[in-house]
Amino acid sequence: MHKLCTILANALWLLFSASALANPLVIAHRGASGYLPEHTLEATTLAFALGADYIEQDLVLTGDGELVVLHDIHLESTTDVEQKFPDRRRADGRYYVIDFTLAEIQTLDVHERQQANGELVFKNRYQSEGNFKVSTFREHIDLIDNLNRQFGQQVGIYPELKASDFHRDEGQDISRVFLAELRARGLDHPNARVFVQCFDAGEVKRLRQQLGLKAPLIQLIAHSQKELQTDAGLKGLEAVADGVGPSLSLILDREGGLTSFAKRLNATGLEIHPYTHRSDVYLSSNEAETQMFERLVNEAGITGIFTDFPDRAARLIEAVAR
Ligand code: G3P
Ligand code: CA
Repeated sequence: MHKLCTILANALWLLFSASALANPLVIAHRGASGYLPEHTLEATTLAFALGADYIEQDLVLTGDGELVVLHDIHLESTTDVEQKFPDRRRADGRYYVIDFTLAEIQTLDVHERQQANGELVFKNRYQSEGNFKVSTFREHIDLIDNLNRQFGQQVGIYPELKASDFHRDEGQDISRVFLAELRARGLDHPNARVFVQCFDAGEVKRLRQQLGLKAPLIQLIAHSQKELQTDAGLKGLEAVADGVGPSLSLILDREGGLTSFAKRLNATGLEIHPYTHRSDVYLSSNEAETQMFERLVNEAGITGIFTDFPDRAARLIEAVAR
């Protein structure tokens, strides 16, 4: 009997240590967007092939109420909308996703992100035009489901609800449309391979408390969201969210040291998924990149990281994790 208890205790200890020591998750930010235009099905496929644990979908609504995978509520930074629909800009000069039907949006070609003057935001990323299209949330889920089935994997989805207030002002409730889709796919439960994310703290609360979201929920935190960074703010978050997605600059200071916020965060039970690791900006050398991961993984206690370069993030985590 004593021996049996010892064996059971050892097995439990091993189980506990294995989960306690799990490496941080690699979250492909807008797909493998360091290599292919963001949020395309191609970038998602590549993220899967490069070993991402989760793949992100930023979500906005079309005029006919379809969830499309785009980072902006505007179309001109990542598509050729100005050439295809020159007369459809609003008085502010912008082309809004919500002013177009899904069928219209599907005629657009997607390109690498550009500034207003036409210059590429990331100079060394994908260079040619390609034949990339805007796709729906449904298409992304189908693609990841199929790849999971064929490769025996369990890569998850990481949808972000964009601009809830803007959508409401336009007469649409993006959270309700999203939840209907999630539930239709059987993905609204605590063990689903899903993290739902949102910057809007009021909407995060609403999702959990009013709309009854059961899937894991992440509160994104930008530098300007000071209240969420206080002890009271973090305590409030523990009641509704499973974790936080803070800007990397809230975790590491300019010298690369841990911020006081990072230390306080690490003392909570919240998941910590900072954004965004980009090997081609901010980082002066391979050594600086390795040192950043060393700090994030072994000192800040991150449990995941958004990255434009999922293969590099996976390698760096593997290299530094103690
Ligand atoms: O959602 C995490 C990160 O993607 C937040 O920033 O602006 O890239 O959506 P953004
Ligand atoms: Ca995002």
